[in-house]
Amino acid sequence: MSFFAAFIHRQFIYEPPVPTASFKNRTVIVTGSNCGLGLEASRWLVRLGASQVILACRNIEKGNAAAKDIQATTSCSADTLQVWQLDMSSYASVIAFADRVKALPRLDVLIANAGLGTLQFRVTEDNEETITTNVVSTSLLACLILPKLRETALKYNTNTHLTITASELYEVAKFKERKAPTGQIFATLNDKAKSEKNMGERYHVSKLLEIFFVKQLAAMSPIDSNKVIVNCVAPGWCHSNLAREADSRAIRIAMKLLCRPTEVGARTLVHGASVGPESHGQYVPDCKITPTGGLTKGEKGAELQGRVWEELRQKLEAIRPGVTSLA
Ligand SMILES: NC(=O)c1ccc[n+]([C@@H]2O[C@H](COP(=O)([O-])OP(=O)(O)OC[C@H]3O[C@@H](n4cnc5c(N)ncnc54)[C@H](OP(=O)(O)O)[C@@H]3O)[C@@H](O)[C@H]2O)c1
Repeated sequence: MSFFAAFIHRQFIYEPPVPTASFKNRTVIVTGSNCGLGLEASRWLVRLGASQVILACRNIEKGNAAAKDIQATTSCSADTLQVWQLDMSSYASVIAFADRVKALPRLDVLIANAGLGTLQFRVTEDNEETITTNVVSTSLLACLILPKLRETALKYNTNTHLTITASELYEVAKFKERKAPTGQIFATLNDKAKSEKNMGERYHVSKLLEIFFVKQLAAMSPIDSNKVIVNCVAPGWCHSNLAREADSRAIRIAMKLLCRPTEVGARTLVHGASVGPESHGQYVPDCKITPTGGLTKGEKGAELQGRVWEELRQKLEAIRPGVTSLA
């Protein structure tokens, strides 16, 4: 099916099923859960019986408001929900958050969902902001937290889940920066003059890099021994605050006509966090394991994944030496 036909099918014909998996006795973290898909996924997880849902938000006040809202709509007890500070534009914040996670008695699910889309070139840490937030910090968080998920899986003889919210838009990323000389892909993404011409697809590129990371992390963390299911999901185009920086009348009308309700898209996140080991290393849009296309395909895709990973690995090791050994 062409990208356009798949879009029409997704937005108008297919509806992801209502989640029914039990999260009883499970401890779950959802990043970026003060609004949008993260908030609705958290609400589902509470409804499905999770004993502890940690809302990881950069703004504690917004996180508290989200917790109140979930409590009011689900009648869960106040101690089901906790709000923890996490700012993905700061590596120190990601590390402090992961250190806090180590002290939890168990961790069954991390839904790494926080993300942004912007047309403005801004720098946070050592990258353009979309790359820091969606790619480097998401990968850093995943590598830091995977050992806790493995510990829980082995202790309770179960599978735990690390699910990243990707996007169907990865498939249309042209990713011209891939033509950079060896070792220069991230440097090219961080070149302001070159990036300003390509910011229209920066979000798509960030989601492509997330998919490469999921495939790489899954290969480095075998399911048979580690028992942590690593996968990524895509929710379709949904109502949320994601387009907040591109707000215009045209966008608002398009969203009104085309977008899925946030709660419906959020079902795909919950599915990713409960689907079986067959989803390890896989892309699971609309609750269906689907082979990836675009620039991930074939030998060329594997080669590009290797180049991206080598650069990302070096970045992660510079932030926290040893982190990619997943120990
Ligand atoms: N909506 C869609 O159509 C769609 C489609 C495919 C994929 N996605 C993906 O779904 C995920 C959730 O997006 P959404 O659509 O629900 O948009 P949203 O309503 O804007 O939610 C994004 C969440 O990420 C948080 N976030 C952004 N930057 C952060 C940072 N530096 N540190 C911590 N948290 C940060 C936001 O916090 P603040 O409120 O504090 O900014 C918010 O909680 C994203 O990864 C997005 O790429 C969305």
